[in-house]
Amino acid sequence: MSVFGFWSLLTALLILLCCLGSGGQAFEVYIWPEKLAVEIKGSTEVNCSTSCPQPDKGGLETFLKKRAIEDHHPQWQRFLISDVSQDTVLYCHFTCAGKQKFRNLSVSVYQRPTQVMLKLKPSRVGVGKNFTIECTVPEVKPLQSLTLTLFHGKNILQNQTFSGAVPASQEATTTFKSTAQREYGLLNFSCQAELDLRSLGGSLFQSISEPQTLEVYGPVQDNQMVIIITVVSVLLFLFVTSVLLCFVLGQHLHQQRTGTYGVLAAWRRLPRAFRAHPV
Ligand SMILES: *[C@@H]1O[C@H](CO)[C@@H](O)[C@H](O)[C@H]1NC(C)=O
Ligand SMILES: *[C@@H]1O[C@H](CO)[C@@H](O)[C@H](O)[C@H]1NC(C)=O
Ligand SMILES: *[C@@H]1O[C@H](CO)[C@@H](O)[C@H](O)[C@H]1NC(C)=O
Ligand SMILES: *[C@@H]1O[C@H](CO)[C@@H](O)[C@H](O)[C@H]1NC(C)=O
Ligand SMILES: *[C@@H]1O[C@H](CO)[C@@H](O)[C@H](O)[C@H]1NC(C)=O
Repeated sequence: MSVFGFWSLLTALLILLCCLGSGGQAFEVYIWPEKLAVEIKGSTEVNCSTSCPQPDKGGLETFLKKRAIEDHHPQWQRFLISDVSQDTVLYCHFTCAGKQKFRNLSVSVYQRPTQVMLKLKPSRVGVGKNFTIECTVPEVKPLQSLTLTLFHGKNILQNQTFSGAVPASQEATTTFKSTAQREYGLLNFSCQAELDLRSLGGSLFQSISEPQTLEVYGPVQDNQMVIIITVVSVLLFLFVTSVLLCFVLGQHLHQQRTGTYGVLAAWRRLPRAFRAHPV
């Protein structure tokens, strides 16, 4: 091969590489929405589109049931995907001037926390005794997006997230142990489940349990004790006072009838000599 032949071959190769590199036209593939959360067994729409003016072909790759809706437009196509039962990835693809491009979309399946069950164990407890509050949501998904909050009246007792949960698990439980105080009986306990799908392209779902009342029994309350002590003291005081009064009055009356005057008179009646020198 001549030197000239070698150079022309190299030039041809370079031109070929350069043209392949620019790939006809540069184009993009888009998928809408960019994030997607679908309720379990639910369906949703997806729009695949491209900036390529005349794509050779395009479509959506998925294991899910899909159906193209509306007529086929060269630059975009809408699909209805249905019966979504697990997390998956959808791929939109278009081929433009012999070159294929993909864009993927993660689909998260969720299940709303419809049932929130709150149990107080036991529901009747003595002051100073331990009890447990247990809140369970039997079917909710994904647990990573769930927060369970325990309330006493409007006060938050505990906030629990499930970021480290086993992905397959669908039941969430939180427990709170405490020692019964009399005030616990005054306000109800409740449990709120919040599924926040906003970062996954969904919305926020909240559900709250039935309120539960803790029955607290036990030693009489301090202020009741104070009242009882006061009443007993007053009664005792009145009793003692009246007994004393009776005694003093009794003495007084007795003295009036037989008492000191009689003694004094007798004393006066005594002869002077006896009075001056009593025995
Ligand atoms: C699909 O997406 C393309 C590109 O964003 C847009 O032009 C088209 O109107 C969309 N179709 C529907 C039905 O939303
Ligand atoms: C989806 O695409 C992104 C970048 O476009 C990539 O990082 C990711 O690995 C892809 N996911 C799957 C499951 O193909
Ligand atoms: C009650 O709970 C406390 C800790 O909260 C624990 O130390 C104590 O042993 C428990 N008492 C009973 C009777 O379980
Ligand atoms: C508890 O969680 C709820 C719901 O996620 C949140 O609104 C609240 O700010 C949290 N409170 C605390 C004290 O962490
Ligand atoms: C507590 O809940 C019960 C129903 O379970 C309700 O009748 C009662 O009014 C509630 N008490 C308070 C203080 O909210």
